[in-house]
Amino acid sequence: MKTIIPVTRSSMPSLEEYTEEIRELWDSRWLTNNGAKHEAFKAELTAFLGVPFAEPVVNGHTALELALGALGITGEVITTPFTFVSTTHAIVRSGLEPVFCDIDSKTCCLDPEKIEDKITERTGAILPVHVYGHVCDTSAIEDIAKRHGLKVIYDAAHTFGERVGEKGIASFGDISCFSFHATKVFHTIEGGAVCFSDPALSERIRETKDFGIRDEEHVDEIGGNGKMNEFSAAMGLCNLRHFHRAVQSRKAAAEHYRERLSEVEGLILPPVQSGVTPNYAYFPVVVDEKLFGKDRNVLAEKLAEKGILVRKYFYPLTSAMECYRGRFKPEETPVALRTAERVLTLPLFEELGVSGAEKVAEEIIRIKNA
Ligand SMILES: Cc1ncc(COP(=O)(O)O)c(C=O)c1O
Repeated sequence: MKTIIPVTRSSMPSLEEYTEEIRELWDSRWLTNNGAKHEAFKAELTAFLGVPFAEPVVNGHTALELALGALGITGEVITTPFTFVSTTHAIVRSGLEPVFCDIDSKTCCLDPEKIEDKITERTGAILPVHVYGHVCDTSAIEDIAKRHGLKVIYDAAHTFGERVGEKGIASFGDISCFSFHATKVFHTIEGGAVCFSDPALSERIRETKDFGIRDEEHVDEIGGNGKMNEFSAAMGLCNLRHFHRAVQSRKAAAEHYRERLSEVEGLILPPVQSGVTPNYAYFPVVVDEKLFGKDRNVLAEKLAEKGILVRKYFYPLTSAMECYRGRFKPEETPVALRTAERVLTLPLFEELGVSGAEKVAEEIIRIKNA
């Protein structure tokens, strides 16, 4: 039987550890609505991320919508089309207009040199994404935002636990939003968090994730339901304990990819960002068809024939998706367009190991030379 190497696989605590963590829920019967696990997870998460406020929520998408609402953003939001569809949907579903800005070809994050051209009198915020765990040029973005009086919300879904120098990644911008989806380096099955330092936002975000309810008789906001349940919070408590182990194993696999693939002509490997402590969330490679001899699609198909599953992540651009057809011009972000046509993310997960990475690298080299 052919062994399959998936592109991702969720990290899990032992069954015993998780069972122990959820045992008391059978006594308390308190399964959601800011129960004991939620409160414990929130405290540990806040300390772990080193931010004044980290509010757990039901998923990363809701974190983005809550952030846009809490900051009262109106009008246009400058953002990237080279992301998971959630980033763009969150803007549109909040009644705002995404204005797509091109990306830097190395980091695949927003190119700060192109942001100012996109600012109009209707611009309310910049919503950059730390794609693949690559950190945006935060100082250039902060500088632009300050000069134009704009809010910055980071989609930090891929960067849990990263640091820039001594500063935790959750501290950037007015708000940083995380996804704790099952496929992320750190997960709570489904989940996310909204992180910020302004105390004035705290009550608003806590209320709007719970229908806007202040107390039994008072409803301040037209909120939705963004609450994280107790089973997810318990998974978060377990996975936080093992985060460093998960990152170390990913690091070993990612470094093996780098060692084996750096000399392969036609493969552009992800950048190593100086001063950044990465979490090895993804290992994207850009395939230069002329130099590699085969295009990205052929490489993906041939790997799949051998049971190695890769992803065209991110393809297509969100601005080119069916639901937005006719509304945006994907060709206005040519670097993003070209990257989306050539990129593949290789398998990377905690249990892949150096041996798994070796199998993938060996097969890529074999395909190139065939
Ligand atoms: C960049 C990005 N933004 C937003 C999300 C949405 O997060 P979630 O799936 O937790 O709703 C994801 C992930 O899944 C993502 O990768």
